[in-house]
Amino acid sequence: MNIAVLGAMWGDEGKGHITHHLSRNFDWVIRFNGGANAGHTIYRDGKKFVHNLLPSVDFRHSHVNSYLGSGMVIDLEKLRDEVVEAEKTYPGVGKRIYVDKDAFIVEHKHKEEDRSTNGHIGSTNRGIGPAYKDKIGRSGKRIGDLFTQGKPDLITGYSDVLLDLIGKGVTFTYALAWEDVFKASSLLFEGAQGVLLDINHGIYPYVSCSDATVGGIIASGFAFAKLDKVYGVAKCYATKVGEGPFPTELHGQPADDLRQLGNEFGATTGRPRRVGWLDLAALRYACQKGGINHLILTKFDILNGLSKVPVCVAYKKTPVCPSDFYNAVPMTAEIPGWSDARDPDQLAKFISLVETFTKCKVEYISCGTDDSDIMGWAA
Ligand code: IMP
Repeated sequence: MNIAVLGAMWGDEGKGHITHHLSRNFDWVIRFNGGANAGHTIYRDGKKFVHNLLPSVDFRHSHVNSYLGSGMVIDLEKLRDEVVEAEKTYPGVGKRIYVDKDAFIVEHKHKEEDRSTNGHIGSTNRGIGPAYKDKIGRSGKRIGDLFTQGKPDLITGYSDVLLDLIGKGVTFTYALAWEDVFKASSLLFEGAQGVLLDINHGIYPYVSCSDATVGGIIASGFAFAKLDKVYGVAKCYATKVGEGPFPTELHGQPADDLRQLGNEFGATTGRPRRVGWLDLAALRYACQKGGINHLILTKFDILNGLSKVPVCVAYKKTPVCPSDFYNAVPMTAEIPGWSDARDPDQLAKFISLVETFTKCKVEYISCGTDDSDIMGWAA
């Protein structure tokens, strides 16, 4: 069984938590896009971890391997920090980490360029845009370029960090070299960011620079992996970091209240997130463009106690392209709220509305940060 877990909105939907929980059922968890701009928050044994580059693997399960795919742009120093940190709790974990030599390197100059040129987008300043720009402009460096005759090239400036990673047991390789192994394994592809931040289908130019849709999996060299299900993850409300259209955005006190309740501050940057109500017009668009056929809804506990929950069910004009999100006019319905997100009867109306408007089945919901807070939705 192979699945993908994609962000269905603007990132920060709780993919890390979901992937972490599901990872025990798979042999490999594979990241295929983005870089250290992602902030995947995981709670393990009561401790909080944020993975920026490492897939959200539950390292407690020793059969699960992680792969950083060729569609990523990788800050090798950041990767070393994450591996060193993970090794403190899970000694030997480096041996379960594989990195595609076809992934491009985020160089120091890319982070400087990001800081000086991408403030108007609200970039995370992790060098992502400039690294992808050099890739597309054919002047980027791949990790494989740092190796000569199979060994890191000691004159490149990144060789020390590569040697450290190799010393920790990290394998640098190519996806195709493992095709037979992957075909005999179960794979979980973990997306970063979300479809509305995708370079092709997100709300341009307020996007990240990678393929956040199901297309990113193929672009990353995994065309041979057939997917059984593509899950989109969305919160039961909406958030966004950075600039750009956000049709259901709240302002003032209601926004402050929801932000505090949901602890909506960036995992990577600490920035306060913009907040608003769930937008089913945007979610439907994201399912269509992202190749999503099942949904996972998160953070129901945050809205516990609201008597009515507003939801945008449509725009006056159905969005079919990124520019349709500019000046979108949301049409809102109010759904009876819930006092206890763990009571399926109380959520049934909300979830059935989501399924009707997105034409996707909801398979899991989550109402907290614990593994036990993720529940199958069978209604
Ligand atoms: P960049 O990817 O750092 O260039 O940022 C471009 C836009 O995508 C900005 O609005 C960021 O806030 C947003 N962004 C990038 N990665 C994430 C993420 O993982 N979660 C939420 N927003 C993100």
